[in-house]
Amino acid sequence: MNDPFYITTPIYYVNDKPHIGHAYTTILADVLTRFNRGIGKDTFFLTGLDEHGQKVQQAAKRLGMSPKEHCDAMAPRFTDLWRKLHISNDYFIRTTDDRHKKVVKKVLEVVMERGDIYQSEYEGLYSISEERFITEKEAENGLYRDIKKIKEKNYFFKMSKYQNQLIDHIKTNSKFIQPNHRKNEILGFLKNPLNDLCISRPKSRLNWGIELPFDHNYVTYVWFDALINYITAVGYGIDNRAFHKRWPASYHLIGKDILTTHAVYWPTMLMSAGIELPESIFAHGWWLMGESKMSKTLGNVVDPMDLIDDYGVDPVRYYLMREMVLGQDANFTIESFIQRYNSDLANDFGNLLSRVTTLIHKNYDGKIPSPGVLQDQELSIKSNSEALIADVTNMIEGMRINEAIEKIMQFIRNVNKYMEKNAPWKMVKEDKANAGRILYTATESLRIGAVLLFPVMPNRVSVLLDALRSKNLNYSWGGLNQGAILKKHEPLFPRIK
Ligand code: MSP
Repeated sequence: MNDPFYITTPIYYVNDKPHIGHAYTTILADVLTRFNRGIGKDTFFLTGLDEHGQKVQQAAKRLGMSPKEHCDAMAPRFTDLWRKLHISNDYFIRTTDDRHKKVVKKVLEVVMERGDIYQSEYEGLYSISEERFITEKEAENGLYRDIKKIKEKNYFFKMSKYQNQLIDHIKTNSKFIQPNHRKNEILGFLKNPLNDLCISRPKSRLNWGIELPFDHNYVTYVWFDALINYITAVGYGIDNRAFHKRWPASYHLIGKDILTTHAVYWPTMLMSAGIELPESIFAHGWWLMGESKMSKTLGNVVDPMDLIDDYGVDPVRYYLMREMVLGQDANFTIESFIQRYNSDLANDFGNLLSRVTTLIHKNYDGKIPSPGVLQDQELSIKSNSEALIADVTNMIEGMRINEAIEKIMQFIRNVNKYMEKNAPWKMVKEDKANAGRILYTATESLRIGAVLLFPVMPNRVSVLLDALRSKNLNYSWGGLNQGAILKKHEPLFPRIK
């Protein structure tokens, strides 16, 4: 249990209505955590909420509430959804937690002592929707809303000082920014001189933030505050032992739109504070509806709640994991969801389950038959299952989750073929022992496939394993309890018409 695995999601803006994009990253982190937990790693999974900034302050004002009351009212929309989606996070952080505020102040002090913070007057274009200063060029591309010209005195972090050190780190640590095309994107960006980062906002303009420890007229820029959550949660500045046990993080999972803040701001902040960098920042693509990104402004957001209410949690988790090639964009359509569900879950997986259980109930009084002595066909399935476990492990460790799932399904499809070829439903009439061996082999294969799919569909797989009277999550061959009486269960994956 010693090998640690620490994974994070972005902390989501508390003001947003949770949508499929948030659900996706959180489910992905959950699948990776459950997988690593299953292979004996000491896992820690963090998610949470980003609660400071102008938008929260404005929304609260409109509602006649204090910003904190507003955050408290909004937070359960996320925590409720995570419970519903079987998210097994170890910690839920909110940037308004006292503990986090202390850590942000501590980091600011350390960076200040380093001589990496200075005050200066700045005039520029400010996008309220992005909560940051933008360049003239960015203002022209039309992506930023609520742009104002602002001139004010602020504090700056000497990000430029760490440019070369960052480039070296990225080049010598091939896994630091993943996938590769994102690494190249950042290296391209770093070919131009890096600006320093404005890390304060005057309270006269925005007061919903963490006060700077060295000037009470200012609050901390929301991204500087938010990124620090990743070290707060594991005990930085509070519990040194715990911190060194968990940090550096194995993965920061993010969407591609927040790559610069994670791959440039965050590592330079850590360098200045003398803290080790995370092992890997992994940027996934976007879920698209048709050709465009799902977004609130476009009004094409798929509400995860609706999907779950209609089809159940685990099929939605399955679809999201099976359909996205990590690192690329994927298209979300209800049609492809239904097609995927029917072909993989209802047909391949569900059919194998109902075939074996029906035959065992009908011919063996519900008792799992004896495997007898395995013949060539069965020995080959057994060795395929061993190869499958090794392949799936490699693929998941290489962040090729969709391929891992496809491998498992290929295995299940082959077991269905084995059933058709040997037709135990005919054989059982003359040779019960031989038919029993086939049914045992098919059921054991189904069990192994199910255990491998547990991280993706924890709920339905648990029902299935319970029906097979096989609760442990051991995926080596022979885990099925011969002689145990199968338990009746509802159809796990009824066909969607
Ligand atoms: N609060 C910041 C993150 C701070 S982390 C220190 C933030 N929050 S967010 O709520 O706007 O977005 C969080 C994540 O959701 C981002 O990684 C973003 O890429 C992701 N998604 C938003 N829409 C998405 C899709 N349509 N598809 C996939 N993920 C997308 O940014």
